[in-house]
Amino acid sequence: MAYEWHLPLESRWIRLSTLTFLAVVVGGLCLLIPPFFLQGTIEPLASLRPYTALELEGRDLYIREGCNTCHSQQVRPFKTETDRYGPFSLAGEGIYDRPFLWGSRRTGPDLARVGGKYPDSWHWLHFKSPRDIEPRTNMPDFLFLTEAPLDLSLTSTRMEVLRRLGHPYSDAEIEGARADAEEAAAEIARSIRADGIALSELEARSEAIAMIAYLQSLGHAVRQNAVAAAGAR
Ligand code: HEC
Repeated sequence: MAYEWHLPLESRWIRLSTLTFLAVVVGGLCLLIPPFFLQGTIEPLASLRPYTALELEGRDLYIREGCNTCHSQQVRPFKTETDRYGPFSLAGEGIYDRPFLWGSRRTGPDLARVGGKYPDSWHWLHFKSPRDIEPRTNMPDFLFLTEAPLDLSLTSTRMEVLRRLGHPYSDAEIEGARADAEEAAAEIARSIRADGIALSELEARSEAIAMIAYLQSLGHAVRQNAVAAAGAR
């Protein structure tokens, strides 16, 4: 039998453990460090834009309420999924999702493509009482969202922080965040009222409105992409 050079090492457990530990650390660092220096390995889709002020607020509420514990935002490239939800998710559409909300939990349907699927008024009624729309659903009522006033005091600060992380917001967008969000909220309230639902002034400026803005934005980049591709043909 050939001399096994590693036998003496294997009989000294402290030395072996220390060297094993070092090997794992060095290997780990080799994998972890390079990505920090590789900027832009993933190109954003040409049609991708950062979230607007109101959508951003809605997104934070979505996280606060834990909607992502029941809803994934990741359509996998299987026929059953693309048939049900639409085009599969691309890396280039998630660049401005910080933190990402891909998830794997699907107590409810995937929401990556829910934008534009329903009118704003549908979401309004669904938040108030999901069981009025789907009697068997286990989605909780989010009636309180329709009554909680939307707080826009930190919106521009949030956008500023995101800009530091590379999201391309202009000075004007950051300074005008509140006015922009209020205008977008009024637009959604108008569309809900146009569908025959009476909204009080409080309801028209509630957290639910921001959440609807966010939900309607989901999948926008891929929809735009598809429209552009159809136009080019
Ligand atoms: C306990 C799990 C659960 C939680 C938490 C939950 N949902 Fe749902 N959701 C469901 C289920 C189940 C359905 C499917 C039946 C229905 O329409 O209610 C659903 C449906 C939906 C739909 C319609 C999707 C479609 O394509 O038809 C939307 C939009 C939605 N939820 C948004 C939200 C938002 C926003 C939140 C957080 C405020 C949330 N959900 C929290 C379980 C959940």
